[in-house]
Amino acid sequence: MNEQPTPEAVSDTTPVTGGEDEAREVGVGPWPGPWPEGEHYDPELLANGDRRNVVDHYRYWRREAVVADLDMVRHDFHVAVENWSHDFNIGSVVRTANAFGCAAVHIVGKRRWNRRGAMVTDRYQHVHHHPDTTALVDWAAEHDLVLIGVDNLPGAVPLETYPLPRNAVLVFGQEGPGLSEEVRQVCAAVLSIAQFGSTRSINAGAAAAIAMHAWVRAHVFAQPVSDTASTSAP
Ligand SMILES: C[S@@+](CC[C@H](N)C(=O)[O-])C[C@H]1O[C@@H](n2cnc3c(N)ncnc32)[C@H](O)[C@@H]1O
Repeated sequence: MNEQPTPEAVSDTTPVTGGEDEAREVGVGPWPGPWPEGEHYDPELLANGDRRNVVDHYRYWRREAVVADLDMVRHDFHVAVENWSHDFNIGSVVRTANAFGCAAVHIVGKRRWNRRGAMVTDRYQHVHHHPDTTALVDWAAEHDLVLIGVDNLPGAVPLETYPLPRNAVLVFGQEGPGLSEEVRQVCAAVLSIAQFGSTRSINAGAAAAIAMHAWVRAHVFAQPVSDTASTSAP
């Protein structure tokens, strides 16, 4: 397992706008009045303001303190994304993984991945790199995790009625080829998300959000899945 290198383009204190297309400033200005006490507070943020893309609970906290706090409440599921051609969806997957309390994101293939879309959320998210599928399989076995592919391939079973295991690594493919044959072979199941329109697929970022939230509904909210659900999906 290799640790992710520090992002080059943005620092943790780089102002983050409300959305990729928005120029408005978000966050809070310098702390007014006497500074609060606590190791978790970052003097630079207290002095200059906190414009980061973090929930209010973490305003003015040091990055390390935020990560340590999140580490106490992260969920058991992981996600993995194949990265053979710098898929632009990976940043979005990382951002959603952060939002849903994913234990870690695993990038399989090329080490460098397209951070646009992550909105600096990768600074608070464990992101591991695996050079190939075998490395991911070995890592999952060592950690008693089950690889669950997510793709609308022939033979895939509906995500909507599949009882997702708690110890799942949800694995996503890339634009174009989708999940590689190699990954399909090592997954305990491949799950499809029901579609009702004309497009062949949704993008991997959207698919990842749906699948992660399915895990959250099952294991955080104890929502049962029914194997008798009716659907008009093909
Ligand atoms: C744009 S899809 C490409 C592959 C797709 N199998 C096709 O036939 O076009 C990229 C990735 O998004 C995810 N994805 C997209 N639509 C999906 C769906 N309906 N069900 C499950 N996964 C989906 C999968 O992880 C897939 O590998």
